[in-house]
Amino acid sequence: MSKQFDVVVIGGGPGGYIAAIRAAQLGFQVACIDEWKNAAGGPAPGGTCTNVGCIPSKALLQSSEHFDHANHHFAEHGISATGVKMDVAKMIARKDTVVKQNNDGILYLLKKNKVTFFHGRGSFVGKAEGGYTIQVAGKTEEAITAKQVIIATGSNARALPGTPFDEVNVLSNDGALRVGAVPKKLALIGSGVIGLEMGSVWRRLGADVTILEGLPTFLGAVDEQIAKEAKKAFDKQGLKIELGVKVGEIVNGKKGVTVHYTNAKGEAVKLEADKLIVSIGRVPNTIGLNTEAVGLQLDERGAVVVDADCKTNLPGVWAVGDVVRGPMLAHKAEEEGVAVAERIAGQHGHVNFNTIPWVIYTSPEIAWVGRTEQQLKAEGVAYKAGSFPFLANGRARALGDTTGMVKMLADATTDEILGVHIVGPQASELIAEAVVAMEFRASAEDIARICHAHPSLSESTKEAALAVDKRSLNF
Ligand code: FAD
Ligand code: NAI
Repeated sequence: MSKQFDVVVIGGGPGGYIAAIRAAQLGFQVACIDEWKNAAGGPAPGGTCTNVGCIPSKALLQSSEHFDHANHHFAEHGISATGVKMDVAKMIARKDTVVKQNNDGILYLLKKNKVTFFHGRGSFVGKAEGGYTIQVAGKTEEAITAKQVIIATGSNARALPGTPFDEVNVLSNDGALRVGAVPKKLALIGSGVIGLEMGSVWRRLGADVTILEGLPTFLGAVDEQIAKEAKKAFDKQGLKIELGVKVGEIVNGKKGVTVHYTNAKGEAVKLEADKLIVSIGRVPNTIGLNTEAVGLQLDERGAVVVDADCKTNLPGVWAVGDVVRGPMLAHKAEEEGVAVAERIAGQHGHVNFNTIPWVIYTSPEIAWVGRTEQQLKAEGVAYKAGSFPFLANGRARALGDTTGMVKMLADATTDEILGVHIVGPQASELIAEAVVAMEFRASAEDIARICHAHPSLSESTKEAALAVDKRSLNF
């Protein structure tokens, strides 16, 4: 007899563990299955985000930023710091501690909410009287059954054809987060989010970093003006980004990696590096789920096919997060997890795809919500634009970080905010105001009339809103 639950969640990343907690809050008997193992073989819930994604990358970004500040920015404050050294092993150990704190926190939250946690791989066995039977293969094997199943199995790094990750020389996000010493020469393929964040970490620590990008445009999904401003800053920092390249043969040798590629001018180039990070996107993960046993529909990329409500083709089976369509972001996965749990309870869970913020945690940070200027032009929407540079913001000057701007786009007729784009200090925090404003369908005038604390970076958002109506006060 298999154990019966109301809801079984397969995957304990941000999509899965949050769905499990919300379902338990709503009164269901919930099981959450996750197979991630820590170094000792124990459970490490939190998925990609906690173990090899959002959290560890931000820990390394923070450490490397401190190092960069000590070397390059302390002096202007009158602080002399000579002989600053980076102990990479200590930095990595700190990152591992941060990860463990998050793993333990999630285990605690599951327990607190009376979610039964199973450490192992979950796979479909078939339909059963009580719903679906899922086999859990961990230290022991057991079967559990539930009427409602939420698939939240996430994604894996995409490898270049013919160049598998060995996590020694050719690194995915996993290996990129546990390099033991600063590589002299680091090559990255793909100047997307991971390429820029991980490239920044190792560049700040002294690596000679080259990022090869296939597309001719830099950060094509970002507002063009913002991407241009960010590129200027990255160039100044010495992050070498080559656009429009065609990557050819990659030789993974004893001493490192050689990447043969054709540059934008059509010239053949050979790039030698100690390490290569391949960050060319991620693929949905349904490996080992045994979807055939129940006839779960997947698309040609292997993603679980869902409708707008995260319903699959099977009654009672839902899927959320990286394993389905839409942006691969932890907060998107969480929102979908909550919405599905509420839908199972007969409530009206909702996810507003128009107000999902994006953040790239480089220096300067890049953050945006809503549509870009190029999107509005392509859609023929009449809009007004206002921007405000951090150079004119008192707090930014006091911080010594005046790169970038806040840019606001509003409907030409109604003044409704259509997009907010930020490159600069604390963009990750500043974007929250724009998300709230857009969720409540605020106008630029609404933001312009709200009292913002002085001196604060957020005054730049107010000023950008004022600039939409051509009435900036401080620029
Ligand atoms: P995942 O987090 O991938 O979790 C899936 C879980 O399911 C894993 O624990 C996996 O082991 C488990 N699993 C899979 N199959 C089974 C099975 N059959 N049985 C049992 N368990 C299974 N997003 C942001 O929003 N902000 C960031 O700053 C950010 N930084 C990132 C940095 C990096 C380097 C990377 C790689 C990603 C980053 N992301 C970031 C993306 C974010 O990590 C993902 O969008 C998010 O983790 C997706 O959550 P998920 O729950 O869908 O899947
Ligand atoms: P990405 O989609 O952000 O960027 C991949 C880049 O690689 C693109 O610019 C693409 O044009 C390029 N590319 C693809 N194939 C190529 C090839 N053969 N040669 C050269 N260039 C090639 O993917 P990335 O950086 O791997 O990250 C995966 C996802 O993880 C992101 O899309 C994001 O959803 C998530 N993530 C989010 C973060 C955040 O929110 N701060 C941080 C890191 C990752």
